[in-house]
Amino acid sequence: MADEAYHKFRTDRAPAPRGCPVDHDFSPFSETYVNNPYAVLARLRDRNAVFYAEDLGYLVLTRMEDVAEVFRKAEVFAATNVQDPVLPICQAAADILSAIDYNPIAVLSNRARPDHTRIRKHAQAGFSARRMKILEPFIRRRCQALVAAMRANGSLAEFVAAFGHPLPGETIFRFIGFPEADDAALKDWTTNRLAFTWGNAPEAEQIDIAEKMLAYWRYCVAFVADRHATPGDDFTSELLAAHDADPGDLGYKEIESVVYGLSFAGHEIVSNLLGNGLINLLSTPGLWADIRADPGLIPNAVEEILRFNSPQTSWRRVAVEDSELAGYQIPAGTQIFLSLGSANHDEALFDHPGIFDIHRANARAHIAFGRGIHFCLGNRLAIAEAQIAFETLAVEMPGLSLVAGQSFEFVPNFTFRGPKELWLTW
Ligand code: HEM
Repeated sequence: MADEAYHKFRTDRAPAPRGCPVDHDFSPFSETYVNNPYAVLARLRDRNAVFYAEDLGYLVLTRMEDVAEVFRKAEVFAATNVQDPVLPICQAAADILSAIDYNPIAVLSNRARPDHTRIRKHAQAGFSARRMKILEPFIRRRCQALVAAMRANGSLAEFVAAFGHPLPGETIFRFIGFPEADDAALKDWTTNRLAFTWGNAPEAEQIDIAEKMLAYWRYCVAFVADRHATPGDDFTSELLAAHDADPGDLGYKEIESVVYGLSFAGHEIVSNLLGNGLINLLSTPGLWADIRADPGLIPNAVEEILRFNSPQTSWRRVAVEDSELAGYQIPAGTQIFLSLGSANHDEALFDHPGIFDIHRANARAHIAFGRGIHFCLGNRLAIAEAQIAFETLAVEMPGLSLVAGQSFEFVPNFTFRGPKELWLTW
């Protein structure tokens, strides 16, 4: 597949850097990790903060200091591997994605400089304060409507399906400019996308997701053409205006690919943030009452959720030249697993990191949104969605609580984490 392809199916794997401890067990897919990654990571951080995971073929970094250094050194540690499937994709799914017209390209998260700088400038302009202001009333209205729908069905609801999944999907679709009439199809195509690249989905599921990815790409291509002919007041039309003003500075295919990638970047991860957040807010005695009494606590609570229980527990980089890191010589080609979850629990930075404390003074020092040139473009949008969602729930559902006795299931995933189901009562 071409070097600039959105997903590259790699098989290369570098050996452990010389002298680096090798771990033969570590796997983000293991049951113990899936159930409680923080306990596993605390043990590993204590034993060998940097190690080579034999099973994965990745160098694993667990300290904030090392993770931040890799993010900072973008010329040495490239992000070109972040959208590559972690595990091999089955042939039937790969065949679906070899359709001649399936040709999205790397544009933001996995594009290297200098193109990344050029494309990001335009994408960042689209995440303007004005666009956020337009979206905010929409988010509030949808939160109200989703709560009303939950109420209308009695006093029991599965939050992920009823609220957590639809809210961020619809928000990102309105941001991009997709018509509401297409929401049902869009939700279907973009659901379960995280399982494809970062999960260990069985073949039938991979095939289903690949078919949806292809259908969604085709939809994006048609939608961008439609907006080019008939602009609206949305992110896509802004990108197209920038393209028309200077086609050499922002390519047409780059716009199609930004639109394609954005709905994945901003959908399921926010659902997981909302689910993780509610688990923490509702399972800490007295906290829901405190938040109801003082909604001003919500902004720092959201930062603490991102630190303590982020929907994204890891990210990746690949060394593009020989370098040194944490005292080891790192050969070019080394793939790196940045444990954001571990860095966010690093005792060197956070006192009693295993305690969920919405009053924590330095909660915002988390690295949940990455750092440096690829720093999350949607961070303000994600935070706004979470704040408005928790505010609305606190006002409208004062008696909200977790259904007693439920155990939460987390789908095995290399990078993303959130409850599959979350049962609430009020
Ligand atoms: C809680 C929610 C979210 C978390 C934890 C999160 C986390 C991240 C992380 C860790 C990165 C990689 C940073 C790096 O490589 O240094 C990233 C990149 C990105 N995120 Fe988010 N994200 C969230 C929500 C969103 C939303 C809602 C959107 C879009 C609306 C979005 C769009 C992006 C984009 C476009 C990039 C790539 C930026 C670039 O490479 O220049 N994210 N995000």
